[in-house]
Amino acid sequence: MTHGLSQAGPDYTAEFARDPLAFLRAQAGERAVRFRLNDLPYVLVNDVKAIHDLLVTQSDRFTRTEFTREALAPFLGNGLLTSDGDLHRRQRRLMQPAFHPYRIENYARLMIRHIEHAISGWVDGMQMNVTETVVALSLGVVTEALFGEDASEAAGDLHQMLHLMQQAQAAEFDPQRHDATRRAEFERDLRAAVGKIDQRIHGLIARRRAGGSGGNDLLAMLLAATDISGEGGMSDQQVRDEVITLFIAGHETTSVTLTWAFWLLGKDQSVYDALISEVDGSLGDGVPTPAQLMNLALPMQIIRETLRLYPTAWILFNRLATTTTKLSDIPVMSDEIVMVSPYAVQRSAHHFEHPDAFNPGHFAEGWEKRRDKFSYFPFGGGARICIGQHFALMEASSLLAMMAQRFRFRLLDPEQAIIPQPLTTLQPDVPIEIELVARQETEKGR
Ligand code: HEM
Repeated sequence: MTHGLSQAGPDYTAEFARDPLAFLRAQAGERAVRFRLNDLPYVLVNDVKAIHDLLVTQSDRFTRTEFTREALAPFLGNGLLTSDGDLHRRQRRLMQPAFHPYRIENYARLMIRHIEHAISGWVDGMQMNVTETVVALSLGVVTEALFGEDASEAAGDLHQMLHLMQQAQAAEFDPQRHDATRRAEFERDLRAAVGKIDQRIHGLIARRRAGGSGGNDLLAMLLAATDISGEGGMSDQQVRDEVITLFIAGHETTSVTLTWAFWLLGKDQSVYDALISEVDGSLGDGVPTPAQLMNLALPMQIIRETLRLYPTAWILFNRLATTTTKLSDIPVMSDEIVMVSPYAVQRSAHHFEHPDAFNPGHFAEGWEKRRDKFSYFPFGGGARICIGQHFALMEASSLLAMMAQRFRFRLLDPEQAIIPQPLTTLQPDVPIEIELVARQETEKGR
């Protein structure tokens, strides 16, 4: 690997816009590459020690970029995704307990209930659009985890807002993003959507505050959270920003991961056979408990491998250097924007043999010790590592396990070429459709 660094670097706006994933993979052999996009200076970093420095040791020298803040703040305000510095540190401290692994067991109960409800409507021979199925599931799970009994009140408005936010984020690398008419239309829709959601969420917050913030959902935990430094809890506005941030960050990321997992499993029957044998040996026929699901190995390995090949966050949020510094031995100037791509790094032959092949064995027990740190980072790292990673892994792996108890499936079109689309998240370009095959009692050996 070499540094592809020269002073200002070439203008790659057109190349990047044409095919961002091909661009990133073509550069993956360089430890770092300096270039310009839309007149801004970027440094793409692929070197794992430099990524470690960016996310861990030097993270306080970088902030969100102006673009990220402009695109997301109208929706998310100052929530965890958009805030920086002291506010981010304080909010992370306040919110971390709600995502502690022991809490995951509570969320798992809720997930199992939603999954059981979905699967109980499935029958032999049923054809389904995987994306629609898993979007409905993850939407149900995240809204109930956030709002408990008040879930249905918020769900529709939140979904509409998510759609607008994706458009705003997708504009980052669009050479025509300054078109005035498009912007004005977009801002009008945005004001309407945000106004509606604000009214709902503030209504819910006021009701909860008035009735004493009991309950087990995330909203209740945010309302009750108090800083150990004695600074008190969160304002209503901060609670609103965090609730919406969690919804936005937690919903589509999980469902799109599951969609890819179905596609990969549909192409490789042997992995699904192995999943069935583990599930039959450990879960039997009944509705599993959270502890039983947490003890399974293969469902988690499948999801981790899916996230290696199709990391939802194909690039992390870009980081703006607030000072001149070095990442490993790679110089970065003040005001340069650092880009890192889990997609490019995790598909590099430098880190994984046969990097494009689906092999959940990469994540067999002890994998973290066998791999270079930051050769695999679908949840980011350091102080801003995904707060919902255990939540997401639990949800996605539980669906696979509970489905394998009762169904096999086949892709309706196994020859279909699927092209990953690097939108806000990394998505298949066409819907993935499957046909369910109910498992026979004889096959289960019971
Ligand atoms: C498979 C599913 C998921 C993936 C792949 C994923 C990925 C990520 C990544 C890569 C980051 C770091 C971004 C960066 O540093 O630039 C992140 C941050 C975050 N994620 Fe997730 N995420 C997932 C699910 C969830 C869920 C379920 C939730 C909440 C319920 C969530 C909430 C958040 C929040 C709040 C942050 C910001 C953390 C901070 O900056 O302190 N994510 N996620």
